[in-house]
Amino acid sequence: MFSSDLMALCADQTIPLWDGTYKIPWHDPDFSARMLEYHLTDATELASRNRQLIAEQCDWILSQLPEKCSILDLGCGPGLYAGPLTESGQVESYLGIDLGPASIRHAQSTHTQPNMQFVQGDVVEVEFPDAVDAITMIYGEFNVFSPDDVRRLLEKAHDALVPGGLLALEVQSADAVRQLADTAVSWSRESSGLFHDGPHLSLIENQWFAEQNAARQSFHIIKPDGTVSTYHNTTAAWSFEALSSLLRAAGFEHVQRQNSWPSGNPNLEMITAIAAAA
Ligand SMILES: C[S@@+](CC[C@H](N)C(=O)[O-])C[C@H]1O[C@@H](n2cnc3c(N)ncnc32)[C@H](O)[C@@H]1O
Repeated sequence: MFSSDLMALCADQTIPLWDGTYKIPWHDPDFSARMLEYHLTDATELASRNRQLIAEQCDWILSQLPEKCSILDLGCGPGLYAGPLTESGQVESYLGIDLGPASIRHAQSTHTQPNMQFVQGDVVEVEFPDAVDAITMIYGEFNVFSPDDVRRLLEKAHDALVPGGLLALEVQSADAVRQLADTAVSWSRESSGLFHDGPHLSLIENQWFAEQNAARQSFHIIKPDGTVSTYHNTTAAWSFEALSSLLRAAGFEHVQRQNSWPSGNPNLEMITAIAAAA
């Protein structure tokens, strides 16, 4: 590959921000299988929290819910929250939806009880059940949806919840997204990684799109034969005020920042809202 080709890839602000592949390929079977290892290990928090923190977060979620209730978990990954949420009997039914085929297979084979269901699909497209008591989306995935998809998602969530039902979104703080965009470009040589199962060079660059208030991280994976694959991860920086107004437009009230949420990470915060009667 010529360096001019590589230069053309870098910092290309003409690639539309929220069109095409603006997310990493969660749906891809090989990527999903590699990602599953990161979800399941407690050695890194790249994809999921460690088991101890997950247990504390589940206790916090349960403390917000009625004595008997149902939960819809959006972007549930391999179902690490399903066990701790259901074991006390307070949550009578749990449904997790996720795009990753390996994650959903893992969740289904680990949790075979009839009150725990897992569906593979895109949360923007898959039909939600009716009359759920709570909807969760954990670990910052909310920010990685386009503003149009966020609006659709919030409307669907409102329609699925009982009046008075809880929406719990763990979001990336606007400051953290801005800082991500300022992270310097980095090169590394890898024997294997998330984007390629074999030796490669990895070039990661970050850009800030001021007009759209969003950061884009681009991963250029250069294989030994010179071929390059590029993946993007685009992250919206929602201020609390912008998020509150989106939530209110979708029919939610009592939007709150929850300081007692055991985040374990200063870049992530819990925002809750209550579904108002339609
Ligand atoms: C950072 S991981 C968090 C997983 C899980 N909530 C946890 O904390 O263990 C984000 C998850 O969102 C899922 N995801 C991303 N986009 C999605 C979409 N459009 N529909 C369903 N799941 C999606 C990914 O497959 C991934 O499992």
